[in-house]
Amino acid sequence: MKLITDISEMRAASLSAKGAGKKIGLVPTMGYLHEGHLSLIRAARAGSELVVVSIFVNPTQFGPGEDFDRYPRDMERDKRMAEEAGADIIFHPSAGDMYPENFSTYVEETGLSKHLCGLARPTHFRGVTTVVLKLFNIVLPDVAYFGQKDAQQALIIKRMVRDLNLPVGIKVLPIIREQDGLAISSRNEYLSTEQRRQASVLYKSLMEAARLIGSGERKAHKVKQRIEETIESAEEARIDYLNIVNRDTLEDVEELRGNILIALAVFMGETRLIDNLELNLTEE
Ligand code: PAJ
Repeated sequence: MKLITDISEMRAASLSAKGAGKKIGLVPTMGYLHEGHLSLIRAARAGSELVVVSIFVNPTQFGPGEDFDRYPRDMERDKRMAEEAGADIIFHPSAGDMYPENFSTYVEETGLSKHLCGLARPTHFRGVTTVVLKLFNIVLPDVAYFGQKDAQQALIIKRMVRDLNLPVGIKVLPIIREQDGLAISSRNEYLSTEQRRQASVLYKSLMEAARLIGSGERKAHKVKQRIEETIESAEEARIDYLNIVNRDTLEDVEELRGNILIALAVFMGETRLIDNLELNLTEE
């Protein structure tokens, strides 16, 4: 496995792979790799001939006062894990190269980004779409892999690809969870032992919701109430948002039908965790 930090060198490696007829798979990450990331790398390995994992803690997607400075980093461990999962190249550019002085061009998705995480983090998705487009332009992937863990992010990337006619296929893979159901995240590192214990309440609340809907409940407010009760049973938990939305538009729904997404963000102490559950209610 090769570590590339230089942007031109990365583009040259991709052009040479393309010239040899190789299909390129890209897994964009901010590093501090875990099983969620590894599932994407393994899928890329299975689906392409050159697997590039980008590791870049992207400053433009963090708001003021967010955790950019303390975001966990461990390059040596990441290298080992990425290689074991099948990566051919780790692309690890510097912030100075990605955002040179006088950088002033952003790409912004203006519809889906206004919902859910976009409300509390108004410039977040602009940073995500900008860096992902840059990575696409540098790595030239045929396919890029994203996790359903960040359902809104995946939807926005797909929208960007469609709207801007980008020649990249997008694959979205399921959420990988800990034994107690907590969605794996680099930010779980921040939790105290007690907060970590209580954090399983996010998944529990989604399972409660699924059960209630499974037993025939179709009123969003009823389902939300059950989720709230479950989450509030954990002392350290404070709901940031809880929405039941149409999976394609991210707009709130009251009557549950079709493809819906239950999306939530919960503070455990200072740490903000997100989770979601997609349900397909088209049968009835
Ligand atoms: P990061 O949080 O490192 O996540 C990288 C990718 O891993 C994302 O597509 C995310 O959805 C996926 N992922 C994270 N946890 C997961 C889990 N438990 N199960 C499945 N997939 C999981 O998301 C980002 O970085 C950044 O915003 C990025 C796209 C790299 C742009 O900077």
